[in-house]
Amino acid sequence: MRRLPERSLSNGKHVPVMTGQVTRFLQDCPPGIFVDATLGGGGHTAAVFKSFRDVFTCIGFELDARILERTKKAFKEEGVEAELVQSNFSRIAEYLAMKHIESISAILYDLGINSQQIDNPESGFSYLQDGPLSLSFDNTRAYAAAMLIEECSEQRLTDIFKNYGQEPKAKLLARAIKNNPRKITTTGQLSSIIREVVGERFFIKTASRVFQALRIAVNDELGCIEKSIDSTIPLLKAGGRIVVISYHSLEDGLVKRLFRKNSGKCICIGKVPVCQCGAGPRIKIITPRPIRPNLDEIETNPRARSARMRVAEKNAA
Ligand SMILES: C[S@@+](CC[C@H](N)C(=O)[O-])C[C@H]1O[C@@H](n2cnc3c(N)ncnc32)[C@H](O)[C@@H]1O
Repeated sequence: MRRLPERSLSNGKHVPVMTGQVTRFLQDCPPGIFVDATLGGGGHTAAVFKSFRDVFTCIGFELDARILERTKKAFKEEGVEAELVQSNFSRIAEYLAMKHIESISAILYDLGINSQQIDNPESGFSYLQDGPLSLSFDNTRAYAAAMLIEECSEQRLTDIFKNYGQEPKAKLLARAIKNNPRKITTTGQLSSIIREVVGERFFIKTASRVFQALRIAVNDELGCIEKSIDSTIPLLKAGGRIVVISYHSLEDGLVKRLFRKNSGKCICIGKVPVCQCGAGPRIKIITPRPIRPNLDEIETNPRARSARMRVAEKNAA
């Protein structure tokens, strides 16, 4: 699993990744509603609005209220028209049902975190700046990761570091964290413990794995992606498209499996007499292998380095 060092993520304004490819894949979608499931700074939505203003009505979902407010303001200044909703993307289908919206034309997921979340220590995502140990996209959960650490046994913490961070020193780190005499409430405290365990030389790589693992656990990221993709694919119009950009192998592997299942291939584990996974031929996979950004983009936007894009198209009923 490749991770970007935090330093290269944090470069002020969030530069959206693979915007040209996103708009290219949306070109032939039927007219209607475009959903940005991960609005962030709104770079992708703004590009879609500018390219397809006569084709799509844009709706953007963002869980982080601080980010949403900033993007709302920016859109107003830039004249970008979009309905912006503060919500977990796992609840998009519920929101659309509440609004009596029965179908959508396209949906984009640009997973992971926003550079602004890394830059703001108050968000509690940074292992290089001190702040409340949150790692939650939901601003109301200021000490979410601190609480998780407090509640977890050493074994559970080891499993989180192993499964969500592929951290080789998972056990050692979990033990040091659980044996720390003081309650850990800040990103700085957690970083100090990591530094003590692995030393300065391995600090950045280890901290990025540990923080990523905690972030995935705190936000139930994989569960939310699964719930969201499985519930929005049925809402796509025939010929409508789903585009997903992911940044690490756990996300990309999950998206690959969900696309396979929704294209009719069973993903049940082991031999089962009757398929349990809900496979059905709802979509056609457009990108059998994930698309990577080109070298020019990687050079100018280091965050693009680990990006992988998968696209699928809704089948006719
Ligand atoms: C990589 S950024 C998106 C950047 C965006 N495409 C742009 O152009 O600025 C991902 C965003 O998704 C948001 N996010 C993460 N998990 C979410 C969830 N479960 N529901 C809604 N938003 C989420 C994060 O807060 C973050 O702002």
